[in-house]
Amino acid sequence: RTDRTIDLAVISGDGIGPEVVAQGLKVLTAVLPPDVALETHPYDLGAKRWHATGETLTDEELERLAGHDAILLGAIGDPGVPSGVLERGLLLKLRFAFDHFVNLRPSTLFPNTESPLAGRPEIDFVVVREGTEGPYVGNGGSIRKGTPHEVANEVSVNTAFGVERVVRDAFARAQARPRKKLTLVHKNNVLVHAGHLWKDTFDRVGREYPEVTTDYLHVDAATIFMVTDPARFDVIVTDNLFGDIITDLAAAVSGGIGLAASGNINPTRQFPSMFEPVHGSAPDIAGSGKADPTATVLSVALLLRHLGHEAEAARVEAAVTADLAERDAAPVRTTDEIGDALAARVAR
Ligand code: NAI
Ligand code: MG
Repeated sequence: RTDRTIDLAVISGDGIGPEVVAQGLKVLTAVLPPDVALETHPYDLGAKRWHATGETLTDEELERLAGHDAILLGAIGDPGVPSGVLERGLLLKLRFAFDHFVNLRPSTLFPNTESPLAGRPEIDFVVVREGTEGPYVGNGGSIRKGTPHEVANEVSVNTAFGVERVVRDAFARAQARPRKKLTLVHKNNVLVHAGHLWKDTFDRVGREYPEVTTDYLHVDAATIFMVTDPARFDVIVTDNLFGDIITDLAAAVSGGIGLAASGNINPTRQFPSMFEPVHGSAPDIAGSGKADPTATVLSVALLLRHLGHEAEAARVEAAVTADLAERDAAPVRTTDEIGDALAARVAR
């Protein structure tokens, strides 16, 4: 094996997960140049595994996963697993263990896709959401639980180190895009302590990127502009909680769940990054061939870009754009047919 091998861990998961991942791998195989080999290593994780063994992710599996170049995940979960078990025991565990401090969520309004926004505005932005801090780290507790005097604290964690590394990543991404614009989203008029750290870091790092135009929006104002003027956004950087909320809004305005891709990225490459469609396991359509694999294919493009295969990433994205442009004329296709069409478009 050469270092031109992609050593990929594959967590297909549950429901439509394996169906869409199969298409993602089909397109990945088709787009890679002949001198880059693909090695896939399947991991049996998710709801099926949990029902069978009660395990979510063992230490041994975590250690093995750490050795791969990247992880492709389909979707995990089914209605029989209590809420939180797989989120905490698998998804969040991976995110924290592999220090996925950049949660990357592109939003593009592709041809022939419906946006609930009137007039089909231009939408082409990417949210860089902090993934390891904020209010999501379990830094809290409650006392006098269940009584009228219950006290509950959920304290947001913001470290100079954690904020700076994600802000730096966002500036680098903005610098690499044609419009070179970065918007910080926070609420520094009210959350003054965390807000100060974010704004101060943003301004300081920004001086190293004179070509990048910067902007600041309070999160409430950002939700208004995402609906009234989404074209104003290029790259957005924000904390874990605000990012969670605005990325769902971003997916909603840009044509929905079958197209939204994401990356949980460790830009240092110390641990593998994980790429996945935003949607879940869709038990209502699993096995019917109705799942749209496009979100997974777009996640494969993010994976390729992260591993340095920029030309291939761009080819996958161009194939999706071209496929969608023709889709309204095309008959309704199965998961497999869409995968075949995309693979054919990217093949050399
Ligand atoms: P969901 O995203 O699985 O489904 C919501 C709706 O969108 C359904 O009507 C489904 O048919 C449709 N849909 C989703 N993906 C689609 C695709 N690729 N093509 C066409 N239609 C698609 O969300 P839901 O129903 O809330 O959750 C189902 C299960 O998935 C739950 O067990 C949930 O915990 C899990 N889940 C897992 C995620 C992950 O693995 N990261 C993320 C979200 C939910
Ligand atoms: Mg969410």
